[in-house]
Amino acid sequence: YSTSKHRPRPDRLHLIGCGSSYYAAMWAKVWFETIAKIPTKVTYGSEAINITLKDPKETRIYITQSGETKDIIRASHNEKSDSIFIVTNQPFSHLGSSFFNTIDIGANIERGVAATKTFTLTCYALWELAWHWSSESKENELKVLDYQDALAEGIKHVLDREQTVATIAKMIARYDNALFLGRHWDYPIALEGALKLKEVSYIHAEGMPAAEMKHGPIALVDEKTPSIFTVTGSFDIDTIISNMREVKSRNGKVFAVVSPVNYDRVKEVADWTFRTCDIHGVAMEPLAANVVLQLLAYHVAVEKGLNPDRPRNLAKSVTV
Ligand code: F6R
Repeated sequence: YSTSKHRPRPDRLHLIGCGSSYYAAMWAKVWFETIAKIPTKVTYGSEAINITLKDPKETRIYITQSGETKDIIRASHNEKSDSIFIVTNQPFSHLGSSFFNTIDIGANIERGVAATKTFTLTCYALWELAWHWSSESKENELKVLDYQDALAEGIKHVLDREQTVATIAKMIARYDNALFLGRHWDYPIALEGALKLKEVSYIHAEGMPAAEMKHGPIALVDEKTPSIFTVTGSFDIDTIISNMREVKSRNGKVFAVVSPVNYDRVKEVADWTFRTCDIHGVAMEPLAANVVLQLLAYHVAVEKGLNPDRPRNLAKSVTV
């Protein structure tokens, strides 16, 4: 993918995906709207078949790491416009080799069933597209390389501390339920973290915006239901801290994946923390934090004697 390639800036965007690709779309919506200022909506592939009216002013991006997902093939069935995009890890797949504009995320082979590096690189490719359509990119074309380095460094920092995640995983493995919470760009990360945990460790997990917890799910919080927060960037930390206190006051344990800027505040409240490193560019922080949640799911599965690469009832691409 090259930012110099001519891609006219759309008036409106519509992102369509399933599972982790849907969460990647939700995450990317934040950046399309904040840095590129393009109104963006996100739809599940399985629900997009109900869209009979295809808005001619909107550019649709179908997101599918396998390029073979039936719900996405169905959803894109009647597309005619050459402004349609496919974001995929398989450029020679059914959708990757269609006449649409294909963006190859270049994650290489992902052997496990659960989307891990493909999730990270789908998010990254969409972020690059948002960057490409932002006014900033015209001023600073090269900056995108800084972000790549920052993400690589952020992920390396996490992988170097895998043992810390494994220790937290031993605790999480003892529970039957977990809540994943985050705000703004960390909210899709919370959803993805919950999906990964349930998918490979069979622990029931729910992701939600942190402040939504008090509108109902807080009824679930007790000593048997831990809450796993993702806290990156530097917005609204007081509200997050108050959400954590709400959990603690109901005897719930608080685990937090937290970036340095918030670390001191969060550490005062949380029972366990994983501190990510200082990353250039706020957009890359949630992606590095997400690797902590991926490792967490992996280690919980291993702790429970399960094979995280082959979760039950699932296949690499959903073709039915
Ligand atoms: C979760 C996972 C699935 C896929 C979903 C869409 O770990 O792998 O939720 O993300 O089935 O698959 P693609 O992106 O191939 O369309």
